[in-house]
Amino acid sequence: MNRHAKPSRPRFFAAAAMAASLALSACGNTPSGDETAGPSPDGVDLRGSNIGGNFELTSHTGERVKWSDFEGRYRLLYFGFTSCPDICPTDVQRFTTGLRQFEEANPALEGKIQPIFISIDPERDTLDALSQFVGAFHPRLIGLTGSQEEIDAVLKSYGASGTKLPADERGWYNMSHTTFTYLFAPDGSPLGIIPTDKGADGVAAELERWVN
Ligand code: NI
Repeated sequence: MNRHAKPSRPRFFAAAAMAASLALSACGNTPSGDETAGPSPDGVDLRGSNIGGNFELTSHTGERVKWSDFEGRYRLLYFGFTSCPDICPTDVQRFTTGLRQFEEANPALEGKIQPIFISIDPERDTLDALSQFVGAFHPRLIGLTGSQEEIDAVLKSYGASGTKLPADERGWYNMSHTTFTYLFAPDGSPLGIIPTDKGADGVAAELERWVN
């Protein structure tokens, strides 16, 4: 058994709680535009929620980056840490592969979705570590980090969490964290949670529903 926190229960309950709270506002808050857009039964609708918001962090290439710098692009966003032994690399592999599949099927939309990985472990995720990690998955995946205070503020406004677990005898610690793959609209507003647990095909199919 690995010591990575089990994601299924918190993921399910958090997603269900979000879905339940959103159901209350759904009837008065139907977005205009594409009436076919919306999540599959495996996804979660975040439209109308207050998840997200501006931040300024440091990219894996050392530049300061604002959320508003991605204006005009959809954003696929994941919070994790590069030394995660299993869940983070698996999820990032799935959503970046799904993104690649979507772009191959929709070449006109290539570059319209910005994949972003925000570190919840600024202590160990140096720019070098982040660069190696993001470079292993997708050429346009951007890694972001910052001070612990900056990361804590972003986690809070995005409804995510990351907590250090007790270190082992060699000082290595695992982290418990939420494992949502968020999709945001080109104006920065939240759209949904992508069912990355359904694999790359599930991610590509979900992007087909939202992105145009
Ligand atoms: Ni992880």
